[in-house]
Amino acid sequence: MRASPEDHLTIGEIIRRTGVSASALHFYERKGLIFSERGSGNQRIFSRHMLRRISLIIVAKRLNIPLSDVADVFTTLPTDRAPTHRDWQRVSRMWKKQLEERRRAIEDLERELTGCIGCGCLSMKACLLLNPDDALEGRGPGPVRLQEPRAAMPRRGVRTP
Ligand code: FES
Repeated sequence: MRASPEDHLTIGEIIRRTGVSASALHFYERKGLIFSERGSGNQRIFSRHMLRRISLIIVAKRLNIPLSDVADVFTTLPTDRAPTHRDWQRVSRMWKKQLEERRRAIEDLERELTGCIGCGCLSMKACLLLNPDDALEGRGPGPVRLQEPRAAMPRRGVRTP
């Protein structure tokens, strides 16, 4: 069955409907989160159901769900039609679980930070925040994190557009 022209939207229409910038849409497309085709005049056109995928990306961003996790979830969604009510229930359950895990991790960090308030020892041995589970012990003596090149240090919270 041939799709009608109403089933497709130009990038301008997508921007108008979602409020997402052209550069972000290009980025999502490069990441394989959304797809477009070429229409007449080689113009990029999007299936109407991409609006739902973009809506899910917007929700994920509000929840601070990393795009890599969004990509994982999207591998479970159909590419030829809009996600159904059931799909969204499944995805929202997964993201709720992630948020609960993140909340628990923040509560743990908050408890450890409470121990540091008024302490100020910044001890590599004793401070749980500086050296959780004494993980630095096996990496040699001295301020090992300060001696390592910056690129080797773990990064947290890498953000995407
Ligand atoms: S600063 Fe002393 S325990 Fe963290």
